[in-house]
Order: sequence, then structure tokens, then C-alpha cells
Amino acid sequence: MDLGQLTTPCALVDLERLERNVARFSERAHRLGVRLRPHVKTHKCVEAARLQVRNHFGGITVSTLAEARHFAAAGFEDMTWAVPIAPGHLEAAIDLHRRLERFNVLVDHDDTVTELERAASAQRVAPGVFLEVDCGGRRTGVRPESDRAVSLARRLHASPHVELRGVLTHAGHAYGCTDQLAVADVAAQERDVMVRFASNLEAAGVVVPEVSIGSTPTFAAVDALDGIGEVRPGNYVFFDVVQAAVGSCRLDDIALSVLAEVISVHPERSEVVLNTGALALSKDPGPVHLDPHCGYGVVCTVDDTRPLSGLRLVALTQEHGVVRGDPREAVDRVAVGDRLRVLPNHSCLTAAMFDRYHVVQSGSVVDEWRPVRGWS
Ligand SMILES: Cc1ncc(COP(=O)(O)O)c(C=O)c1O
Repeated sequence: MDLGQLTTPCALVDLERLERNVARFSERAHRLGVRLRPHVKTHKCVEAARLQVRNHFGGITVSTLAEARHFAAAGFEDMTWAVPIAPGHLEAAIDLHRRLERFNVLVDHDDTVTELERAASAQRVAPGVFLEVDCGGRRTGVRPESDRAVSLARRLHASPHVELRGVLTHAGHAYGCTDQLAVADVAAQERDVMVRFASNLEAAGVVVPEVSIGSTPTFAAVDALDGIGEVRPGNYVFFDVVQAAVGSCRLDDIALSVLAEVISVHPERSEVVLNTGALALSKDPGPVHLDPHCGYGVVCTVDDTRPLSGLRLVALTQEHGVVRGDPREAVDRVAVGDRLRVLPNHSCLTAAMFDRYHVVQSGSVVDEWRPVRGWS
């Protein structure tokens, strides 16, 4: 099947680019001497995860119960659910702990640990737990310099109802950087904060079996990972416009695109309208800290995914994407019915809009991958 036969909008995965991205990070993990536990939340499909774990130990990272169940059913036996566990999910997590070789959950608060210990002791199990650390992203996690961080780690270490698997962080603040040098600083901070914290815990008598870090920008930028056991990048499978802007990849590495059709043209105001709105692309604003006018994705040619200069996706409503020409004549080469591809600002969110991905190789659709959707 060729792209002209697909109904728009739809999600295209460029297999060659994806395999190149996967090979690049796989090789980096081997070279830097760390175990790769890729995050599968970006694509949520078994086929892509199998490519990511090839030549690695097979562990993955998930972000929802639906992902955990989906990948467990597909034979994945070692997972970390890398969002602090909600008390309402404890029974489901314990069930996965019983069924799988390893199922680790995340905690960052004493109250969660109390609930987890209660549920685990009632079921006579001791689930694997990571203590989440905030290395600067200010989302979840304990501050490593706080007394609370050490007391919580001590408690987890001493508890008969959980098994402390290690400490874990995600340097989400790397996404706010303006260049590779700044990302490299965040990557060094992510590593150093965690190595120091683990060694403080060891000095306090807490055994730390694993130090787990990782995001796509920091793993792309870091030059040494001494003291770190595993990394959990995820977005690198597809990459996206934000990653290109902060220097993790080039635009021609981006493996996910949305196939769009022109549905309306307005030469008088130098605009054309695509049938890809917020429900196809998501409404991620993109790297506005680097270019306030970056728009909602990069408009490209359909055959070779080359950016079309002078066209910006300036507005989205539910099913409409407004493209403006600058200079004005830039829209003259586009007519109703033309097909274009849009590279997403944030591939994890864009991918999540689709119930299937059309896998493309040398201009032909060669496969269809079905991701899992929902939360449970
Ligand atoms: C806890 C955690 N680990 C790993 C990742 C993967 O990072 P990235 O999406 O930058 O590859 C994420 C992404 O949000 C995350 O939240």
C-alpha cells in the first residue's frame, strides 16, 4: 500500500529512522556501561518495545497500569512503573508483582509507603520499590538533601513488606534548556546528585541495589555514567521537534509524523487549512522558549518528509490546523487535496491520539502497529 491510499489524518512511523534511533541509544548504553530499561510510554506498542530491548536485558519502564498489563500479556517480565503509585492501584500492582519476574513501583511519600505496607502484608508479599528523587525537575520525588529522603530510604530498607530496589530520578528540567551545553550540565547534575545520594544512603547503612536515571535529552548529551546502573530514556524511539530544538537529534531523525490533507485554501490571507487539528497532533506548544513562533509542528513534504520552508502551523482547533505562509507566496504551492506530513512537537502526546500506526519503509506501508490506550 502507498501513502496515497491511507485515510487522513493518520500516524506514520518511519521504520528506517526508528531503527536508527533505537540503534544509536542501544549503542550508547553499551558504550557508557549502563543497563537500558527503555520507557515505552512514547509508543505503547509491543513491536517498538521489542526493537528497543533487543541486545539488552529485556526490562522496560511503563507509565500506566494499561501499559503494564499490555506488556505483561506480551511476555515482558521485568518492569518499573515509573509514576508514584496511587493508593487506588495497590491491589493491581501486587497482582502484577505476583505474575511477573519483577514489577517495581515508585514511592516518594511516607503515607504511600504506609498504604503499600498494609496492602503487601495483607497479601503476604514484598513488592519491589524504588524511592523517587527530585534531581531538579520539581515534579515528584524527595529532595535528596532533605532529612525526609534519608528517613524514607531507611524505612524502605528496614521494612519486611517491601524490597528496596534502589533510587530513581528523571531530569525533566532538561527540556527547558536552550542548547546542548546546558543539557550536558543537567545530565551531569542528574548523574552526580544520584551518585552522591546513593553513597550517602550506603554510608547510613541503606543498601542501594540500583541507581536509575534517564531522559532522552540527558542520555543523548551525557559523556560518562560512572556510578549509574540503568537508564530509562523513551522519547528517542520517535524523537520530535522539541528534541531537535534542544539538540538531542536532527529533524530528519524524527520517526513519527502525521499524514494530513489540505481541506481549505485562502490565498488572500496567505493561509491553508489541514485536517489535522489538536485531536491529531495534540496541542503541545513546542520549543517556544527557543522560538516563540515555532507553531504546532513542522510541515513537511509527503514523500521524503522534508520541511517546507515558509509554512508554519499557527493555530489548531479540534479538527483544523491553520498553516500560514511567510512570505505570503509560500502557500501558493499548496492546493486542496494535497497531502503533507507534520512532524510533531511532542511525539508521546501525538502518538497517543491514534489507535494504530502505519509503519512506512521506502515509501510503502509495510506494517500496522496497535498501541494500548487508556489507563487500566
Ligand atoms: C520517570 C520517567 N522516566 C523516564 C522517562 C523518559 O524520558 P524521555 O521521555 O525524556 O525519554 C520519563 C518521561 O517522562 C519519566 O517520567
